[in-house]
Amino acid sequence: MKKLIAVASVTAVLLVSCTPKASTSVVASGSSTSTAEQIAQGKTIFENSCGKCHKLPDPASHNPVQWVGIMNSMAPKAKLTDEQHQWVYDYIVSVKK
Ligand code: HEC
Repeated sequence: MKKLIAVASVTAVLLVSCTPKASTSVVASGSSTSTAEQIAQGKTIFENSCGKCHKLPDPASHNPVQWVGIMNSMAPKAKLTDEQHQWVYDYIVSVKK
């Protein structure tokens, strides 16, 4: 019985560690998935910081891969922390869907 549980949990770990890689390979820092609250923060940061130098960009105007590059050049301009960079990116990509 104990052995069965061990096998089951190993399988679960394998599943958990494989699935996110396929779907989040595009995320800027490649690490974590943002919570709904962090995405909401990302929206606020986006609206407050990204319309300062130009019109607020339309999240639908670029695909998620393009946004990685754009965010890599814009996050320093907007003086975002790595976390804020991630949240804004996740917000932008969440709008697109
Ligand atoms: C300090 C000024 C400044 C801030 C803040 C800023 N940008 Fe920009 N942004 C620019 C300038 C200048 C350009 C045009 C030249 C360039 O691409 O570097 C630009 C261009 C862009 C473009 C067009 C790029 C393309 O390839 O078509 C997008 C999209 C964009 N910014 C998004 C953002 C987002 C998202 C944020 C917030 C995280 C942001 N910007 C914050 C100055 C800024």
